[in-house]
Amino acid sequence: EKAGYASFMLKEIAEQPKAVADTLLGRIDGSGTLSLDEVRIPPGVLREVDKVVVVACGTAFHAGLIAKYAIEHWTRIPCEVELASEFRYRDPILDQQTLVVAISQSGETMDTLMALRHAREQGARVLAICNTNGSTIPRESDAVLYTHAGPEVAVASTKAFLTQLVACYLVALYLGQVRGTKYGDEIRDVVRDLSGISGAVEQVLGTMDPVRELARSLAHKNTVLFLGRHVGHPVALEGALKLKELAYMHAEGFAAGELKHGPIALIEEDLPVVVVVPSPRGRSVLHDKIVSNIQEIRARGARTIVIAEEGDEAVAPYADHLVRVPATPTLLQPLVATVPLQVFACELATARGNEVDQPRNLAKSVTVE
Ligand code: F6R
Repeated sequence: EKAGYASFMLKEIAEQPKAVADTLLGRIDGSGTLSLDEVRIPPGVLREVDKVVVVACGTAFHAGLIAKYAIEHWTRIPCEVELASEFRYRDPILDQQTLVVAISQSGETMDTLMALRHAREQGARVLAICNTNGSTIPRESDAVLYTHAGPEVAVASTKAFLTQLVACYLVALYLGQVRGTKYGDEIRDVVRDLSGISGAVEQVLGTMDPVRELARSLAHKNTVLFLGRHVGHPVALEGALKLKELAYMHAEGFAAGELKHGPIALIEEDLPVVVVVPSPRGRSVLHDKIVSNIQEIRARGARTIVIAEEGDEAVAPYADHLVRVPATPTLLQPLVATVPLQVFACELATARGNEVDQPRNLAKSVTVE
């Protein structure tokens, strides 16, 4: 049952370090080589893939958006990500060389199922990333990589999302390995970095008291905005989705670079804006741009809630609230940066008196279109 937690959601948030570790378990051997037993698409076929299309809904779609960065970077194969409900009505271009990745926690989401059926009819190979053994989506796919999050009971997806990300990274790394790219060394490094992620998530969970306190103090607000760049953009979208579904608040995620193309007009005195800041190491240009975005919104009165890597001192002067996450490679940051947003939404919803496990109007598995 809830094992002493006030809700399944809190329990599932707390289970994330284990869920992440379990999803990695047995998939990387001692020499750092990936082996994915459940992927039954022959390497020869994977070497011929010339396009990857990810289809999913909701939170799983956000995992897909992040997957695109990893797949394109490590494999150099073009990758599109599309909402399953849009994909099948668009006459998408697919053939035998297209790999479709269908991501679904439940394995029963009707839109995702219809999208994969459509893809297979066009001759594409379908790889499912799924959390539910023997469910319809993996049964109808050519291959499956199961996430090992364990049963997710709360309607809002938390631990399943983190394990979907892990699975997406594994698929990207595996494709890179099978095809051999110039990123061979980087792939070996990332495999090593992934093994430290469970501990990093645990560390984040241990520092969430100030986030909960902040969430309670914002319970009376009407709107919260979320900004990010690169993989931080889908994290912002996910933070906003969690807040909508749990707290029934107006919440929106934006690419920080889009601010000046419209959303900055929304900024007013004391509006809470959560900003996901990429690592200052690595792609530092991204980091510097977002620091100036934070300055821009703060100058217009925003209350800035900044999620930044430990040791990133450049953002500190502009953060009204600073949430630290452990340093990770840029592409893996969503695994740690999402966690505070889950805790934030859960606590804020509870402070508003909402039932977090069973938000109004929502069902855990959407088996109608
Ligand atoms: C959000 C949420 C939903 C699901 C979506 C897809 O917290 O839970 O957005 O992510 O309905 O569900 P699955 O992954 O079961 O296909």
